[in-house]
Amino acid sequence: MIRGRGLVGAVLLCVAFAACQKPVKPGDPVPGLTKDQRASFDRGQVVFDSTFTPATGLGPLFNADGCGECHEDPVKGGVGDEVELHAAAFHSPVCDPLAGQGGFVFQLKSTPALKAAVGIDSEPVPPNATARALRTTPVLFGRGLLDLVPDSLILSYADPDDRNGDGISGRPNHFVDGRPGRFGRKAFVPRLDEFNDGAFSAEQGISSPAVLT
Ligand code: HEC
Repeated sequence: MIRGRGLVGAVLLCVAFAACQKPVKPGDPVPGLTKDQRASFDRGQVVFDSTFTPATGLGPLFNADGCGECHEDPVKGGVGDEVELHAAAFHSPVCDPLAGQGGFVFQLKSTPALKAAVGIDSEPVPPNATARALRTTPVLFGRGLLDLVPDSLILSYADPDDRNGDGISGRPNHFVDGRPGRFGRKAFVPRLDEFNDGAFSAEQGISSPAVLT
């Protein structure tokens, strides 16, 4: 009997404790991070929330002056109403993302210095492009957790011919080097830090040791 009461008390304590814990809001770090992980989150948040200028590396071609300018709703890291421009040239059977001519993201803005020097407001799409596409800005919450999912788990869901008859034919995408992709609308880029390096370059014209252009 005493044991039974003890158990009920323990359960109630747990419920009361859970009720006292602050609920996780969009953009919050997940609970239970180590000190190092929390410090890494805080450093990343400072960069994500920064507004860049030409003096701090913006441009000369860019789409916006900060990650949080696009990923912003309901807080930084969320969705956004900005739409970016992609272009490619189709040479059957493959699609050339025009990387050597500024692709695959074409920047819609230029710094005053570039405008003064060459007179362009945005990056010109080369005339050999055969297709243009627009991409809306997605939410980023939880993408750090997606980064932790093992490749083997993603691949275990592959079912290209819908052999299990559930109406879903999962086809994993692969990066150019063969690794399974997961980030971007076409799940092309394998790791979150690789996508972020690319976003600095493609969206803000900011190079990094990983992406020098
Ligand atoms: C001009 C608006 C814009 C800016 C600025 C921007 N992004 Fe994005 N972001 C997008 C769009 C559009 C996509 C979807 C791209 C796609 O599907 O290929 C995206 C996708 C992403 C993704 C992939 C999400 C997923 O679910 O796969 C990550 C991660 C990301 N952005 C991080 C960043 C970071 C970090 C920065 C700052 C360095 C940044 N973005 C700046 C518009 C922007």
